[in-house]
Amino acid sequence: MSSEELIERFQSIGLSAPKAKEYARNAKTSAAFVEVLDEGKVTSENEKKLSLLYNLAVLAKNDGLDPKHRSLVTKAVVDERLKTNLQIQEAVKYLKTKGDDATEEGMNEVSGVGIEITKDDVRKEILNYIEQNKEEVLARRYAGVPSLLGQAKKIPALKWAAPTDFKPVVDEIALELFGPKDERDVVKKEKKKKESKTEKTQQPVKERSMYSEGFLGELHKPGQNPQAFPELMDEHLAFTKGKVFTRFPPEPNGFLHIGHSKAIMVNFGYAKYHGGNCYLRFDDTNPEAEEEVYFNSIKSMVSWLGFEPWKITYSSDYFDQLYELAEKLIEVGKAYVCHCTPEEVKAQRGLKADGTLGGERFPSPYASRTVEENLTEFRKMRDGHYKLGEAVLRMKQDIQSPNPQMWDLVAYRVLNAPHHRTGDKWKIYPTYDFTHCLVDSFENISHSLCTTEFRLSRESYEWLCDALHVYRPAQREYGRLNITGTILSKRKIAKLVNDGHVRGWDDPRLYTLEAIKRRGVPPGAILSFINTLGVTTATTNIQVVRLESAVRAYLDSTTPRLMLLLEPLLCEVVNVDENFAEEVEIPFKPGAEDKLGTRKLKFTKRFYIDRSDYRDEVDKEYFRLAPGQPVGLMKVPYNVSVKEVIRDESGKVTKLLVNYDSDAKKKPKTFIQWVGESNVKKIKETRLYNQLFTSENPSAHPDGFLTDINPDSEEVIKDSIIEAGGFNEIVKKSPLNIGIEGSDFNINETEGPQTVRFQALRIGYFCMDKDSNGDDVVLNRIVTLKEDSAKA
Ligand SMILES: *[C@@H]1O[C@H](CO)[C@@H](O)[C@H](O)[C@H]1NC(C)=O
Ligand SMILES: *[C@@H]1O[C@H](CO)[C@@H](O)[C@H](O)[C@H]1NC(C)=O
Ligand SMILES: *[C@@H]1O[C@H](CO)[C@@H](O)[C@H](O)[C@H]1NC(C)=O
Ligand SMILES: *[C@@H]1O[C@H](CO)[C@@H](O)[C@H](O)[C@H]1NC(C)=O
Repeated sequence: MSSEELIERFQSIGLSAPKAKEYARNAKTSAAFVEVLDEGKVTSENEKKLSLLYNLAVLAKNDGLDPKHRSLVTKAVVDERLKTNLQIQEAVKYLKTKGDDATEEGMNEVSGVGIEITKDDVRKEILNYIEQNKEEVLARRYAGVPSLLGQAKKIPALKWAAPTDFKPVVDEIALELFGPKDERDVVKKEKKKKESKTEKTQQPVKERSMYSEGFLGELHKPGQNPQAFPELMDEHLAFTKGKVFTRFPPEPNGFLHIGHSKAIMVNFGYAKYHGGNCYLRFDDTNPEAEEEVYFNSIKSMVSWLGFEPWKITYSSDYFDQLYELAEKLIEVGKAYVCHCTPEEVKAQRGLKADGTLGGERFPSPYASRTVEENLTEFRKMRDGHYKLGEAVLRMKQDIQSPNPQMWDLVAYRVLNAPHHRTGDKWKIYPTYDFTHCLVDSFENISHSLCTTEFRLSRESYEWLCDALHVYRPAQREYGRLNITGTILSKRKIAKLVNDGHVRGWDDPRLYTLEAIKRRGVPPGAILSFINTLGVTTATTNIQVVRLESAVRAYLDSTTPRLMLLLEPLLCEVVNVDENFAEEVEIPFKPGAEDKLGTRKLKFTKRFYIDRSDYRDEVDKEYFRLAPGQPVGLMKVPYNVSVKEVIRDESGKVTKLLVNYDSDAKKKPKTFIQWVGESNVKKIKETRLYNQLFTSENPSAHPDGFLTDINPDSEEVIKDSIIEAGGFNEIVKKSPLNIGIEGSDFNINETEGPQTVRFQALRIGYFCMDKDSNGDDVVLNRIVTLKEDSAKA
């Protein structure tokens, strides 16, 4: 056959002109290909199968495969038992080595005929591989994708997977794991160079700060975030003067919790660190859930943590602008009004009947309306012609994208509810996905910092800004703070409150910020703690006891010490006069007299000790007061020793008659706390708190988290006593605002009963509770003195 005839024949069976030409180029291989086509009786086939047959022809020729054996392979390719080059190679290898012993069944077996590896299997195996190499994969991010792809192809279980399945699956997983590409994926080389340079010049060691290293340390500078329309950046910089602009955007539908303190610190703190501005923006696009009390609480918590918003704004400030942009989006052909039911939308997004993803995705039938129709329909939504669920405005994104956040998200929905700021003006409200990025853009945000749950939203965030031709802020995602051993979910805390398990949303056993404040945790302790954890892209899981121990360390260096007797026991000195008084001076905190001063106490004929400091009998480990075992009283020069024990009918000790051993020459060895009779202040209630839950993960309790409640989480002690003079002085001087020396994270509080904090010797750290009223003082134990004393 001439080369023209060959090309003509190859084209007639389904090859494109260039391919036909290519296959006809070499006389020997084209002849082998013709033989294969003849023995397979091929008259018309798809290009993929023809390419397999061609490869078979070449391989068989090069290997000198017996034609009888080759026809077995040809047949298997034609009837689609063998679907890949790898399978063909294995089949040829088998036939060649077995020679006359080869069988068709044997060939089928070695080449994996009948083994179906689905895309889901590929995904599962690759995820498995990643799980075992997590650190490296996460560290290398996109730079590691090519090698990941190579490794994936070598996974034994995937030997017979379709080769074309690997790349899409790896790409999809990479997007889920790393989010869209960002500066970490492009500047690596440059940075390495810089680092090695600075190493040589020996910089002085700076104080460790979460803003200068880790995730926040690596963020772009204002002006460096890429734009689809670079001229918008010039305008933006003209306005911001190159300052950092951030925002903290809570929804005003609940109280903030400890996890939010990280978000507050990241957003407000990053701006402050760089001399920029941070908005407190209430994301009030869901009028049904909003209440005044949440707005006030959020404002007050931000300020309690020591931050001042540059401006307080509301997403609802921008409802008019947002609406205009929604019409613009329709006009540019990138939004449509959809009347599909939620089930239909799910089906379009490939959600199968069993609820799992992975079905065929297809566009909404409404995605191809005319612009005029869309506009009319959208205005009908605005004007109240539709009820909730009858119509939504959807963005026309990319239903075939691997990213679910691109599957035509809803931009506006009908919600016929009055809004606390715009009243009855609107019957439609924009969604988070539509509002968030645009308001970031309006407010000229340079760094839109959020937690990693929003990673996949970054693509739609940028898509929408670009579709509307507005300045595109840079969304960047960090790992959130997850406190374990408690619950943070709004719904579950509401259950605890409503069922009376706790005193309210600010019960000191909870981890809402209101609760932590009430409990007496200093805001500076929270900031210092979060700073030491640093910010990365991984979730930080922290046990409540670790937080408590950080609080304990902070309180140890910032609080005065007082003597508190939880259960007072009266003592009377038998060997002194009625008006005996010995004055002793005690520093509020040894070593910190300059900051906290001292107080004078009178040791008098009658005084109190704590009941736990007296026992009828001694043992090897007990060194405090007992008959025959004298003890010292804090700062009082000599021991007291028991003379007589007075009891009531039940045998309970009601009073001790003691001797003041002032004739002894040696100093006492052990000291206990005491309060002189003239210096007694009764405390109405002292509340001792322990963990609210008994396990590390209350939500995982098989019978529900309520079953995991610790029955001893609060112990209330009535009528304990404290030294009056010292206590009153501390109350008067509070807030003391003693920070940690040299720390960037000290915060001055201005008001509140919780600012009256002290260490009660040997018992723990305490503060005044908001239930205190005049002389009726209620104390909260913030934390115990030592970690294990809580359990004892
Ligand atoms: C954002 O910057 C633009 C200039 O690009 C300016 O006109 C606008 O007022 C700024 N927005 C806010 C909320 O300050
Ligand atoms: C947060 O902590 C809980 C345990 O309290 C755990 O079940 C959950 O997986 C953690 N979340 C993350 C993202 O690590
Ligand atoms: C005080 O009591 C302790 C313990 O009983 C004893 O070891 C010590 O010698 C006593 N000191 C005086 C001055 O009596
Ligand atoms: C807190 O108050 C102290 C004493 O009034 C003052 O020296 C310090 O500068 C203040 N710190 C802050 C962060 O405002």
